[in-house]
Amino acid sequence: MKILAINGSPHRDGNTKISLDIMKDQLISAGIEVEELHIGNMISGCLGCMKCVEMQNETCIIKNDIVNETIQKIKECDGVILSSPTYYANISGIMKSFLDRVFFVAAVNGMLFRHKVGASISPVRRAGGIQTVDALDKYFSNGEMFTSSSTYWNAIYGAAPGEVVQDEEGTQTVRVLAKNMAFLLKSLDLGKKAGLAPEQESKIRTNFIR
Ligand SMILES: Cc1cc2nc3c(=O)[nH]c(=O)nc-3n(C[C@H](O)[C@H](O)[C@H](O)COP(=O)(O)O)c2cc1C
Repeated sequence: MKILAINGSPHRDGNTKISLDIMKDQLISAGIEVEELHIGNMISGCLGCMKCVEMQNETCIIKNDIVNETIQKIKECDGVILSSPTYYANISGIMKSFLDRVFFVAAVNGMLFRHKVGASISPVRRAGGIQTVDALDKYFSNGEMFTSSSTYWNAIYGAAPGEVVQDEEGTQTVRVLAKNMAFLLKSLDLGKKAGLAPEQESKIRTNFIR
């Protein structure tokens, strides 16, 4: 089993990376492989061009960044961790640009991430972390994914890089989140192998005027 752990901070080695590493240790000791991905600083936002709906080839028309390869990476994984620093009580701008494109292409190409497991975390200095975690979880709940949970909402506190390790309750929250993610992954695997997964319905798409 494999997980993709996505670092949505402009800082490669800041609190976001440290939080992912806490999860990574737990997942590895549960026998799950973890690949880390830092999204970097150069991701364009969604153009709303709907070419991904037209083309139906699992790709975004913007080709000069890591969005398309990430879609395929997640497709091959059993789950994904989204970690974003809190910026103005929400997801960092670069991470939002990245996630909008990855998850929209996945949804309009037949729910590519259906029945995978998701977990989200947000390192935060003081306030707004819960809103960020909620916003990250929205990408899972719209794509027929299952979400791991912990003993508190998944914010972890720290400002300067490295400070999150001093947040004893936050590190426990992240640790338990990873343990529950491993359990969920293994339980789902058993359920899928036993043929218990429901059949996929074809998507009905309406808006509120028709
Ligand atoms: C543009 C910007 C906006 C931020 N907004 C918030 C905020 O709304 N609430 C908060 O508590 N911390 C905020 N922070 C602090 C970061 O969330 C915090 O330092 C985090 O640990 C950074 O993670 P990193 O080291 O992985 O980049 C902000 C930082 C920046 C640069």
